[in-house]
Amino acid sequence: MELIKTISQMKKISSKWKKEGQKIAFVPTMGFLHEGHLALVRKARELGDKLVVSIFVNPLQFGPKEDFRDYPRDLERDLSLLEKEETDVVFAPSAEEMYSPDFQTYVEVTKLTQNLCGAFRPGHFKGVTTVVLKLFNIVKPDIAIFGEKDYQQLQVIKQMVKDLNLDVEIVGHPTVREKDGLAMSSRNTYLSSLERNSALCLYKALLLAEKLVKEGEKNPQKIKKQLENFIHGFPFTKVQYIELVDPQTLEPVKIIDKPVLCALAVYVGKARLIDNKIINP
Ligand code: PAJ
Repeated sequence: MELIKTISQMKKISSKWKKEGQKIAFVPTMGFLHEGHLALVRKARELGDKLVVSIFVNPLQFGPKEDFRDYPRDLERDLSLLEKEETDVVFAPSAEEMYSPDFQTYVEVTKLTQNLCGAFRPGHFKGVTTVVLKLFNIVKPDIAIFGEKDYQQLQVIKQMVKDLNLDVEIVGHPTVREKDGLAMSSRNTYLSSLERNSALCLYKALLLAEKLVKEGEKNPQKIKKQLENFIHGFPFTKVQYIELVDPQTLEPVKIIDKPVLCALAVYVGKARLIDNKIINP
């Protein structure tokens, strides 16, 4: 496994692989890897001849009051995990390498980024699409894997690829959970043990939404209200949003008569956690 920190070196290797006709599979991450990331890595290993994983905590996608500085980092540990998964190249550039002082070009998906996390994290998805497009240009993947845990991100990336005619296939991977149902996340490390108990409220709320829909509830407002009350029964929690949206357009639905995405963002202590589930009536 090779660790590459410069764009020029990464481009050189990926160009060489392209010439040889190797299929490049790519998993972009911000590091501090857990089993969720590793599931994507294993999928990519299966789908490509060459496997590239990037580790880059992208300053552009964090708001001024968000956790860029505190975001957990452990490159040594990540490298040893990736070595075991037979990764060919880990691309881990510095922020200076990715963004020169005169950087001024951004890519933005305008509509899909309006609600859910986009409504509460202005500029976040613009930062994500900009860095992912840069990474695609540097790594030149044939295929890239993204987690459904960040459902809106996955949809936004697919839209960018379609709109800009990028030659990369985007593959989604189901959310990987702890045994009790908590979605794995690098941000779970922010939780104290009492907060960790409360964090389960996201998954439990999604199951409650599913139960209500299966029992025949069609009114999204009623479901949202019940979920909000349910979540606030758990200590240290503060709901940011609870939404029932169309899984393609991500626009709120007025009535639940076809598959709907239930998406949540909840603060548990200082950790902002998200989760989602597609619910079939
Ligand atoms: P990061 O949060 O590190 O996540 C990297 C990838 O792992 C994303 O595609 C995310 O959806 C996926 N992932 C995280 N937790 C998961 C889980 N429990 N189950 C399945 N997949 C999971 O998402 C980012 O980084 C960044 O925004 C990035 C795309 C790298 C751009 O900076």
